[in-house]
Amino acid sequence: MKSLKEMSKTELLGLRQEWQKEYENFQKKGLTLDMSRGKPSVEQINLSMEMMDILNSQTNLVGEQGIDCRNYGLLDGIEEAKRLLAEINEVAVENLILYGNSSLSIMYDMISRSFSHGITGNTPWHKLEKVKFLCPVPGYDRHFLITEYFGIEMICVPMTEKGPDMDLIESLVEEDEEIKGIWCVPKYSNPQGITYSDETVIRFANLKPAAKDFRIYWDNAYSIHHLYEEKQDFLLEILKECKKAGNPDIVFKFCSTSKVTFPGSGVAALAASTANLNDIKKQLVIQTIGPDKVNQLRHARFFANVDDVKRHMMKHAEIIRPKFEAVLSILDEHLSGLDAGTWIKPRGGYFISFDALPGCAKAIVKKAKEAGVVLTPAGATYPYGKDPEDKNIRIAPTFPSLDEMVNAAELFSLCVKLVSVEKYIAS
Ligand SMILES: Cc1ncc(COP(=O)(O)O)c(C=O)c1O
Repeated sequence: MKSLKEMSKTELLGLRQEWQKEYENFQKKGLTLDMSRGKPSVEQINLSMEMMDILNSQTNLVGEQGIDCRNYGLLDGIEEAKRLLAEINEVAVENLILYGNSSLSIMYDMISRSFSHGITGNTPWHKLEKVKFLCPVPGYDRHFLITEYFGIEMICVPMTEKGPDMDLIESLVEEDEEIKGIWCVPKYSNPQGITYSDETVIRFANLKPAAKDFRIYWDNAYSIHHLYEEKQDFLLEILKECKKAGNPDIVFKFCSTSKVTFPGSGVAALAASTANLNDIKKQLVIQTIGPDKVNQLRHARFFANVDDVKRHMMKHAEIIRPKFEAVLSILDEHLSGLDAGTWIKPRGGYFISFDALPGCAKAIVKKAKEAGVVLTPAGATYPYGKDPEDKNIRIAPTFPSLDEMVNAAELFSLCVKLVSVEKYIAS
């Protein structure tokens, strides 16, 4: 089909009528589908069920260091689990500490501590007139919610296919002492599935921030979440690059097993320089006597090493790849060449990011909802929930079944066509 842009008003009106009829037929089907949730499906969670058989009342729960995992002790985690998470996060064991079940709650803690006590002896942020953060957009809504909650001013930085706009980041960070951090999902980013290029990582490592307590919040949530065995993205290891650049303290690197084993019941970790970790541990020892070592042990005994984890991740890929491919081929089939939006084909992660025509995202999400398909609210991928161009929509293909996903993607494409044709008619 030719582009909507090139059509006459009569052609556009004809198409609107045709697509409206199709839409009404969808409405009659009474669908109740959800494309909004970035969580694994039941089949994916079932892949880890054998982990539940690893520990029972007969199991020896003494870890490698001779510590009884049922009891208090080991503030930063058991050695065997640290080794596993360090391999997943591609850092040295001594640069990593284990926490509880959620990397997001570590990130929240980091911001909270920076406000109450400051970072490595710097002024606590609550004493400052203003604190600002850079937010690559589109990005992860829950990052933005944390900074919004603490009253931090968020500055949008556009994403490119190589990562966030580094020219802009360098100029902002180097001039403005009130900028204390940047949120990054550097591999298979949420929602675009973009992996930062080598050049981007090296430029991050070489930043010269005006603020001494500026940190890069490097959320490595999708480090091993490939969709394909062969076609995999590669990300330079940031801690190593920062050290090489003489900037070892500039980064906090997070990861968890949430989308490897059980979301909400996984193990989360933070990697950072020795100076940063020492600073953090001074507070951590007040906050807790120690993390859930039984769960750490369960994970460390379920996976012998990172290669085991990678094999496990390929089983996840086999389940979710067909859903990603189905959505992408439906988008191709219905929207290619139509000038009704653009999208990125990711090689990993949990999302497909769709950019509608400016001013159309909210209307598309609303239309889909009125026919029974729930999408992530338009605007969620921007700070304060406000997408200035009202164009980005995050599609989450993992949770629904393949059939549901096909139906939802067909309806989504139709809603895009209808809202876009309206826009062209109006203009
Ligand atoms: C980029 C990113 N970071 C963190 C999380 C949450 O991780 P956790 O379960 O470890 O808190 C998610 C979950 O969707 C995510 O997409």
